[in-house]
Amino acid sequence: MSDPKIVKLLDESSNRSSELPLVSGTLGPACIDIGTLYKDTGHFTYDPGFGSTASTKSAITYIDGDKGVLLYRGYPIEQLAENSSFLEVAYLLLNGELPKPAEFASFEHDVSHHTMMHESLKNFFQGFHHDAHPMAMLAAAVASLSAFYHDDLSVDDPADRKLAAIRLIAKMPTIAAACYRYSVGWPLRYPRNNLEYVDRFLHMMFEVPSEPLQMNPVAAKALDLLFILHADHEQNASTSTVRLVGSTGANPYASIAAGITALWGPAHGGANEAVLKQLEEIGTPDNVESAILRAKDKNDSFRLMGFGHRVYKNFDPRAKIIREMCHKVLAELGVNDPLLDVAMKLEEAALKDDYFVERKLYPNVDFYSGIIYKALGIPTEMFTVMFAIARTSGWIAHWIEQHETPGSRIGRPRQVYTGADVRDYVPTARR
Ligand code: ACO
Repeated sequence: MSDPKIVKLLDESSNRSSELPLVSGTLGPACIDIGTLYKDTGHFTYDPGFGSTASTKSAITYIDGDKGVLLYRGYPIEQLAENSSFLEVAYLLLNGELPKPAEFASFEHDVSHHTMMHESLKNFFQGFHHDAHPMAMLAAAVASLSAFYHDDLSVDDPADRKLAAIRLIAKMPTIAAACYRYSVGWPLRYPRNNLEYVDRFLHMMFEVPSEPLQMNPVAAKALDLLFILHADHEQNASTSTVRLVGSTGANPYASIAAGITALWGPAHGGANEAVLKQLEEIGTPDNVESAILRAKDKNDSFRLMGFGHRVYKNFDPRAKIIREMCHKVLAELGVNDPLLDVAMKLEEAALKDDYFVERKLYPNVDFYSGIIYKALGIPTEMFTVMFAIARTSGWIAHWIEQHETPGSRIGRPRQVYTGADVRDYVPTARR
């Protein structure tokens, strides 16, 4: 979709110029295509943190950060949250369209029949210390899928790519539940294919051999909603990581494992775990004021976890949905969590504080998700793992799109070199 409009750039020091075409998508600002800039002017562009740089064209997800809009394949997140299911959203992200009943039945069948882990994979868990962080185990276990399914996989074959997508979406909950069960010393549970995706996961997490699991349907509904909200978010840090690794031709399991490690950081998916730990540290609503003061203090590295977003500068539409859900889930499950009082006081205090208002720092999706996970009995260390289960659908959709795009090249950013100028080697005796 190349637009004929051109931006002219003149380098006055060398009098070299470049005519750069504008590239427009369906929605969002047009981008300046700087592909010929270096050839024309001898300059690179400098944009650390990619604040103004589009790294790819993509037809999967659209965000308007100023208006608080999030669309998956054109469908507003609010409508998907209200009417869809996580598995249907996963189908939508992968295939571009909502499934007809027969298409969904076939997708659900395929996902249900790839849920088991290879028995040998179980042995890997024995190698971890019992208190290993589940994100470390998850990243390692997903990377190890390369060793099980690598040899017969061609990244250039659409059928192989689709099979890898199904395997990843199907096995992720099984592996995630295994990470948890290993950490608490419970025997691993096999997936029950007669259950729906989220129910199956909850059973693998919490069912013990000695008694049947009584699951409140509110829990499955809440988790399904959280999975929908976390399924994709265009070129965020972890998705960009998956694409960068994918651009080298690496197999999908290795690419997704890289995404998992990128997600782990507290500035990204690790924030949900960090939010809960921070709320626990704050402890009571009385301590909120001092937490706000610390967050504003430039000499203190303390930040309010769950506040702020690189793209959303008005509100995070997912946070709006999840905030409502949070109150509903706690009420329906009969949970009276004092941390929610701390969270509400923190939200209220930050939203009327000039520091947060001026910088457009609003609660993001992770501010509330941890409280819901906690109410569902999911341990804090597993919060980012929950995020990873959902985001796998987005990551693999992007990985497939990348491989379907003709002319895709290896990702290779440039740099501004700030090291020593060229100099001669000094022999040891003369240093
Ligand atoms: N608490 C206090 N101050 C903050 C916060 C915060 N949570 N977030 C940003 N700021 C301040 C910065 O200090 C900076 O102030 P300054 O202009 O006076 O220097 C200003 O707001 C802009 O912040 P940046 O770090 O430049 O914003 P950026 O877009 O790079 O970072 C990020 C976004 C990483 C999300 C940041 O807001 C943050 O660290 N938030 C807390 C972690 C978090 O919740 N992450 C989850 C993100 S959502 C997700 O991944 C699903």
